[in-house]
Amino acid sequence: MSPYRLSRTLPADATAAALRADVSHGLTCSPKQLPPKWFYDARGSELFERITELPEYYPTRAEREILIERASEIASLTRARTLVELGSGSSAKTRHLIEALLPELAVYVPVDVSESALDQAGNALVVEHPGLAVHALVADFQAGLALPETPGPRLVAFLGGTIGNLLPEERAVFHASVAELLSPGDALLLGTDLVKDEATLVAAYDDAQGVTAAFNKNVLSVLNRELGADFDPADFDHVALWDSEHEWIEMRLRARTELTAKIPALDLAVHFAAGEELRTEVSAKFRWERVRAELAAAELDLRQWWTDSAGRFALSLAVRL
Ligand code: SAH
Ligand code: AVI
Repeated sequence: MSPYRLSRTLPADATAAALRADVSHGLTCSPKQLPPKWFYDARGSELFERITELPEYYPTRAEREILIERASEIASLTRARTLVELGSGSSAKTRHLIEALLPELAVYVPVDVSESALDQAGNALVVEHPGLAVHALVADFQAGLALPETPGPRLVAFLGGTIGNLLPEERAVFHASVAELLSPGDALLLGTDLVKDEATLVAAYDDAQGVTAAFNKNVLSVLNRELGADFDPADFDHVALWDSEHEWIEMRLRARTELTAKIPALDLAVHFAAGEELRTEVSAKFRWERVRAELAAAELDLRQWWTDSAGRFALSLAVRL
């Protein structure tokens, strides 16, 4: 058997049905909104990788610094034989963790909605680490996770600050579902971006080269391709703003003029007033207190809290109570 295999926990038509449901709801409610998971087709995944290299986008560098510093400590605290990674993307930073967990690590289970990202990362990893089995899962980590039977202890990693792309009520459901996956001896490794000054935050989501703007507008191309919609991305401006009450960045697409977009697959015509905005993402920023409280609400106990030297990003290690 090949050391790399890919399986789907949802049939492809379930993904299509989920997109239709999200778009029907999100573009007919007020204010308009879409969940961020639809950014990540092959082009969206590539654009995200370019974002991680931008000078303004500090979270990837900050989290990598912590992983390099703490990987061997994480390995000796968890002794994981299975590493599950939710929203794994390119698995680029994860390599530090995998290398520290080897040779005991037997299986890596990357989970993502982006099949192209899973294939690229998985095929490269089995070449780099011939002793490691990689079982990739195309799945929505918010839709109930069915993981393959693999040896314990299990470490579930959720890196990059992707937890911040979930709304508070979605985070509560997510943490409860992760707690369900953990047996005694298993652990959760959670990456969270931290609250900091507004200028640094806004610059990270509105870079000078316009890569984040292209990433944001990519969701319109996904709707055009998948649902036959006729959005012109040039009709929209990229908006990134800091909401100090919720302590999150919001990305929006603002219509430059009044327009109507047709979405034939849904038999829908969506009207935008000039200046009307569509929310495409929240990216919540955290403090220690909020991370501890949200984990505790799901009966997860925060055992370790590590930050980068500039205090921009945190990695938490938690276990089930
Ligand atoms: N963990 C990587 C990638 C972060 S980008 C890093 O730290 O750099 C967010 C990743 O989560 C993308 O690869 C995207 O496809 C995936 N993703 C977003 N929403 C998802 C969902 N609901 N279920 C599964 N994967 C999701
Ligand atoms: C994946 N996620 C943590 C990124 C973030 O920072 O919220 C997605 C992103 N959006 C704009 N830039 C990057």
